[in-house]
Amino acid sequence: MVDFKRTLITTALPYANGPIHIGHLAGVYVPADIYARYLRLKNEDVVLIGGSDEHGVPITLKAKNEGITPQDVVDKFHTIIKESFKKFGISFDVYSRTSADIHHKTASEFFKKLYDEGKFMEKTSEQYYDEENKQFLADRYITGTCPKCSFEKAYGDQCESCGTSLSPTELINPTSMISGNKPVLKETKHWYLPLDQYEPWLKEWILEGHKEWKSNVYGQCKSWIDSGLMPRAVTRDLDWGVPVPIEEVDGKVLYVWFDAPIGYISATKELTPEWEKYWKDPETRMLHFIGKDNIVFHCIIFPSMLKAEGTYILPENVPANEFLNLEGDKISTSRNWAVWLHEYLEDFPGKEDVLKYVLTANAPETKDNDFTWKDFQTRNNNELVAVLGNFVNRALVLTNKYYGGEVPGRGELTENDKQTLKEIGVLKTEVEKSLDSFRIRESLKNAMDLARLGNKYLADEEPWKVVKTDEERVKTIMNICLQVTANLTIILEPFLPFSMEKLRGFLNIEKQGWDILGNVDLIAVGHKVNKPELLFEKIEDKVIEDQLQKLLDTKKANELAGAKAAPAKENILFDDFGKMDIRVGTIWEAEKVAKTKKLLKLKIDTGIDQRIVVSGIAEYYQPEDLVGKQVSILVNLEPKKLRGIESQGMILCAENADGSLSIVSPDQEVKPGSEVR
Ligand code: MF3
Ligand code: ZN
Repeated sequence: MVDFKRTLITTALPYANGPIHIGHLAGVYVPADIYARYLRLKNEDVVLIGGSDEHGVPITLKAKNEGITPQDVVDKFHTIIKESFKKFGISFDVYSRTSADIHHKTASEFFKKLYDEGKFMEKTSEQYYDEENKQFLADRYITGTCPKCSFEKAYGDQCESCGTSLSPTELINPTSMISGNKPVLKETKHWYLPLDQYEPWLKEWILEGHKEWKSNVYGQCKSWIDSGLMPRAVTRDLDWGVPVPIEEVDGKVLYVWFDAPIGYISATKELTPEWEKYWKDPETRMLHFIGKDNIVFHCIIFPSMLKAEGTYILPENVPANEFLNLEGDKISTSRNWAVWLHEYLEDFPGKEDVLKYVLTANAPETKDNDFTWKDFQTRNNNELVAVLGNFVNRALVLTNKYYGGEVPGRGELTENDKQTLKEIGVLKTEVEKSLDSFRIRESLKNAMDLARLGNKYLADEEPWKVVKTDEERVKTIMNICLQVTANLTIILEPFLPFSMEKLRGFLNIEKQGWDILGNVDLIAVGHKVNKPELLFEKIEDKVIEDQLQKLLDTKKANELAGAKAAPAKENILFDDFGKMDIRVGTIWEAEKVAKTKKLLKLKIDTGIDQRIVVSGIAEYYQPEDLVGKQVSILVNLEPKKLRGIESQGMILCAENADGSLSIVSPDQEVKPGSEVR
């Protein structure tokens, strides 16, 4: 085991084709930030690296759809993402981007070195080409019929209906998603990283050497390696990206997954001229924080690239997380099913720490997890407000009340006093243990246990009662409460940085290092604390209901957008149409049919007569809103008994994609009995 001198923490570079949502935060940026803040508190040499991933086909397509350049797309989202991270307090030492010159240069040189040293294989193959747009097509941008199940919208890499993985040439009737035309096969040359040659080394390095990696990470690596690795193309036919730095090669760029991880190196170069000590000194510990869909790239492909290059260190650990769902559904950018960070920051100003807390307490570390607004509210109200906020508030309020804010000294200690003070050190060790093995959610629980301890101590000692009989004793109790509070500002600093800064303001103390955590004289006798404000505030039901309504609206919009109109029915003769006697009528009376949810009993003036119609619209109309309304009614439909009431005819409604009904009315008032034809 090497004794590392410094830590390099990388966070997956988000694609700059959309904003950041809670899934990104929970999986990658919040845990990485907590860990980096913890190491900084310990005074260790650490850098937290981030940046935007600005290449790849989806960005070019988005640009095309919107009639702007790819650079416009990434400029827009890089700015939004960077700003959201900053406001939210993700403490990057550098947040760079892969369209930056320094990155193009770094990635280019990296490729060139491997190329010059003969580390790539060159291969020519036939690939689909879109003649109208004059470009080769990425697998994802070809659709056609699945040869296995005949699903008509299979992609060039996979059929989403039967799950078979495909190659584009297997598709029946391939179509370019860019032009809608049939693509043609055309020869093209590419460079491949021969991963098969690295297989024995990967086996040794990961499967033997890193058994301590999280089981989800180790397991995925093992399954990739066991099923045999194949050469991977590291170049693409595309005009957006880092150009392939070989003479006479035109219109080709580095594959986005080749250049993006090199972005970590470029960003470090941007940060410091001493970047090499972070990347090339074996005494540096490199950690990649990522989501589970990135495991193969960070555990197998990037390490093989680094190994091929030869002068770089390899990751020491890759604490990848599983996915976070939202209210039971997969988070999806295209379906707008997400809590966007920039929207959260607007809706909940000053509550950055609350979201950070909830995402950590419920982090998808070992399995996919669910974010619900209800849980968000509960954790805020029952944990941050009722446990942490309540404890520190009472400690400070009572100190102000009894001693005008001046910290009292301790007298002789009881067993409970000694136990309580000792426990601070115990919790410190627990937090360290869980943090150092990347069990971040457990570490947060350990840290919050200190606030729970404080609350319990106050409940046991009841200074507000003791004050009536034994004033000396109260001094000891309050001193201990303040020592616990001061220790909280350290133990919770990595998790709740904004709130702990506030709390230090209440206590009137400076930021202190991790080492001093556990010290029971953090706050000196006679020191003056300030009057506190509330550290956290209760979140009311209405606020949560509004967020849920927002999601419901999204769902509805998606259903409407996604629903296809029913196919047309067979033709009929004009005579058949003529048999239907449809009139405009006016509703005179409307009431609910007892013991039903859907039915209304309507009395309608049809111009011919007044008749009763039972209609299934009760979920969409209030009876009182219907009186006086004109409707279309099929008057010669055979009468039918519904719930004991004879219904004479049928009201015509349009049925929306979500099943909701809307009455079809004339768009100007007409005489009842007017025929509809
Ligand atoms: N942009 C990728 C994603 O969102 C992650 C890139 S990580 C890096 O899945 F290693 F390539 F930087
Ligand atoms: Zn299929």
